[in-house]
Amino acid sequence: MTEPHVTAHWAEGPDNGRFTITLHGAEALPAGYRLAYTSQLRTLSGAISGAELQQVDGSFHLVAPLAEGPLSFTLTNLSFTPKHSNDGVMSAFLVLPDGTTQDIPTAPLSCDNPPVDDTPPPPAPPAPGLGLSPMPAEIALTGTAAAPAGFSLPPNASAALRAAFATAATLFATLFPDQPQLFGAGPVQLCHVPEDMGEGYRLAFQADAVTIHASGPGLLYALITLAQATHHARQNPALFTYPAAGSTIADSPRFQWRGAHLDVARRFYPMDDLRRFLAIMAWHKLNRFHWHLTDDEAWRIEIRAFPALTETGATRGWGQAMPPLLGDGAAGQSGHYSQADAAALVAEAAALGIEVIPEIDIPAHSTAALRALPHLIDPDETPDSYISVHGFKNNALNPGLPATLDFVNTVLDELLPIFPARVFHLGGDEVARGAWDSSPAARRLNLPGNSAIQSAFMRRCQARLAAEGRIMGGWDECAEGDGVAAEDALIFAWQSADLAKMLSNVGYNVTFAPATAYYLDIAQSHGWHEPGASWAGMTPVQATYETEPSDWVGQAEKLAGVQACIWSETLASKAIFDHQVFPRLCAVAETGWSQPGARHWPRFAALSAHFPRL
Ligand code: ACM
Repeated sequence: MTEPHVTAHWAEGPDNGRFTITLHGAEALPAGYRLAYTSQLRTLSGAISGAELQQVDGSFHLVAPLAEGPLSFTLTNLSFTPKHSNDGVMSAFLVLPDGTTQDIPTAPLSCDNPPVDDTPPPPAPPAPGLGLSPMPAEIALTGTAAAPAGFSLPPNASAALRAAFATAATLFATLFPDQPQLFGAGPVQLCHVPEDMGEGYRLAFQADAVTIHASGPGLLYALITLAQATHHARQNPALFTYPAAGSTIADSPRFQWRGAHLDVARRFYPMDDLRRFLAIMAWHKLNRFHWHLTDDEAWRIEIRAFPALTETGATRGWGQAMPPLLGDGAAGQSGHYSQADAAALVAEAAALGIEVIPEIDIPAHSTAALRALPHLIDPDETPDSYISVHGFKNNALNPGLPATLDFVNTVLDELLPIFPARVFHLGGDEVARGAWDSSPAARRLNLPGNSAIQSAFMRRCQARLAAEGRIMGGWDECAEGDGVAAEDALIFAWQSADLAKMLSNVGYNVTFAPATAYYLDIAQSHGWHEPGASWAGMTPVQATYETEPSDWVGQAEKLAGVQACIWSETLASKAIFDHQVFPRLCAVAETGWSQPGARHWPRFAALSAHFPRL
């Protein structure tokens, strides 16, 4: 007897082709069963043959057979053309007539002529050099020496050096738990000459000592440079060298904003994963953690005034208000961060020189919030009157309801004290066409269309933040139409690199985060079995590494910096996360820190194989 399982096939055709799903072993199932599955590939018009499509809710689908016997059905008028085998069915389960469920295996999406992997071969490794990424601006080497066994503090070490030394020791132990500690009782003594160089530093190498000129954050960066050089030279002496006595290294970052964004809504990352992620960020001298805490698929941060946000909005599963999504089985998944977790993470990040920028993504991307708090829905709005790009119906907060601003203000009341960073991100992206068209409450605002409703709403949120001395972070849609005030905003240019130029030209401060180069969930080759999303093309590591922000943003003073964005829809396992994020994250880090001429692809490619992973 065939155990029930699902296969899926895509064939070319009009309107993004034909998506056929087959349930094997259906003949043995009791009459009245239904098949539930998750897939980002949807039909836009409900076009299905061979089964009845009973429910679509984001990536969740529920179908019922039309007759007993084999089940195979085809969806057309698809939401996109699949380009990779992860674009098909991500998970499936049976809903049996007695109300029980049974998870069943699924196969990767097949197609008739799968494109082959076109990842270029790695370049030949360069001549041996320092194992450093980012590469420092000024390196004056007298020669090379064997890497020392480690570093120690002199008895009279400054308090600042002691603190940075302890942080570096913890960082090294977190990243390389099976390596002997570098910062302890090693033979090379560290001397500290306090000198205010901001995030910059200068290192002078002697035979048994290293002198560090720095203060504040530069001190930790100096130790990280020492740790990288020593670690790589020790691990791989054929490729990486250590500076001989008399050598100097001096460095400071190119951009003040060197960010990494992580979407914890589509998938939940336990605190220990976040800690390790922050450690990896620090190792590459990234300094802004953009924590994408809410989205359609989940609300992940505790708000004491609204416990339902995390009770309901962070719990997905069959029979729950939030269905299983994006690879979940019937039991779904849940997880959220308490305010104490968030405060602890902010403190731990600060010790590593990293600011945590929270994002509450509003007004769109709010399915989880609206399921948890139905009083935020206009009762007179037509249900299912618009659909988001991710397949969620009526997923925007409603600026026409007084309760909406109360909600936002309450969330900010609770979160602003926890997140001291100047920037607080409020999303603002991807409001669906037609949002609010059928809401009498929104129409009573008497504003000329949805763009005006969105702008007025974001401006009010921005004013609240400005009154508290904060700046609103927002995706580039926040600058559309009568956009938010430039002086109190930082705009994250994601839709195109060109848009970054345009926004800086009209006065916005911009963080450069184009999906076509810096979105790390985008696949790295055309290969059918390469994981990732394809809506922004494909991005090999080299393309990320060689993207030069100043080619796009002419006005240097408007370019705050760069940011890699990790969206989690396709990151189904830690192995896939590692494959997608590393080393592209480190490529963005290097662009954020070093001057353009310091980037050298063969060097980075050789070194990046040795970078830590999650
Ligand atoms: C985004 O990718 N929707 C900011």
